[in-house]
Amino acid sequence: MDYPELLEATIRHLEEEKARGVRHVNVDREVLSRLARPISRSIARSDASPSVPETAPRPQSPRIEVPGQSAPVSESRRVEKFEPTRVTRSREEKETAMAGLRERAMGCALCPNLAAARTQVVFGVGNIHTELMFVGEAPGMDEDRQGEPFVGKAGELLNKIIGAMGLKREEIYIGNVVKCRPDTPGQASGNRPPTPVEMAACLPFLAAQIDIIQPKVIVCLGTSAVQGLLGKKQIGITRLRGKWMSFEGIPVMPTYHPAYLLRNQSVSEKRKVWEDMLAAMERLGLPISEKQRGYFLQK
Ligand code: URA
Repeated sequence: MDYPELLEATIRHLEEEKARGVRHVNVDREVLSRLARPISRSIARSDASPSVPETAPRPQSPRIEVPGQSAPVSESRRVEKFEPTRVTRSREEKETAMAGLRERAMGCALCPNLAAARTQVVFGVGNIHTELMFVGEAPGMDEDRQGEPFVGKAGELLNKIIGAMGLKREEIYIGNVVKCRPDTPGQASGNRPPTPVEMAACLPFLAAQIDIIQPKVIVCLGTSAVQGLLGKKQIGITRLRGKWMSFEGIPVMPTYHPAYLLRNQSVSEKRKVWEDMLAAMERLGLPISEKQRGYFLQK
C-alpha cells in the first residue's frame, strides 16, 4: 500500500470508528509525527531531496465519490481538485448520487473544530431536479439546530424573495458553501463567517452538488458565497452583484445576502436584489408580470 492508500484507509477506519460512537483513539508520538509529514514529500519525491521546505502538516481529505462517475475525485484541503462529470443523469441516478454525497458529508471531519462543535451537518435542501439553485455562506445557529439551510430570519426573507419570483422553496435547491456552522468558541450565541480554509475544504461538496443538480442558474448570496464558490478574493459583493459570472459553465448571479437586507432596509437595496432576481428569472425563461417588474421601484 502506498501513502495515499494508507491515508485513505486510515481516514475510512476513523470515520467508521466515529460512526460507531468512538470519540478517542490512542496514537503515540512517533505515529503522529509520521502522519504530520507533508504528503508531497511522501508521495511525490522519491529522491528525498531537501529542496522543498517542510511546512505545516496538510491533511488530505477523503475522496468524494459521486456515484455514476468513473473515477473517484480525490480532494485536497487546500487545492480545489473537483472535476465535474457533466454527466446527464436520470432522475433516479441523481437521487442516488445526491444521497451518496450526503452520506459522505455527514461523516466529514475535515475541519476538526467545526466537526466537534456542530449539532449536525447542514447539507442542503430542496428539489435536486430544479433549474435554480441558491448558494449561501454557512449555517448559523438556527440551521445547525434544525439541519436545514436558511431557516432563521435571513431564511424567512429568502422565502419571501423566492415567493416574489413566483416560486416555492420546495421547487428550488438551497445549499451553502460550508456545511457546518462556523464555531464560535467561548460564545453562547452569534455566528461568524467561514474562513477561506474552511470554504476551500468544503467546496468539493458544493461543487459535487452542483454537478449532480446541473441547475441552469445559480444565485450566490453574499460575499462569502461568491468568494467560496468562485474564488473572487478581495472583491466585495457591492462590486460583484448584478453581473453574471460562471461556475463550470453555469451562469452565476451574485447578489446581496438576505441578512444584509435585514440590516439595511432601504428600498434601493431591496430593488438591487430584486433586479438580480429579475435577471435570473429572465435567464430561466420564467414569466414576469408588470407588477413583478415594478417591485421596489420608487416613484
Ligand atoms: N446564512 C447563510 O448563508 N446560510 C444559511 O444557511 C443561513 C444563514
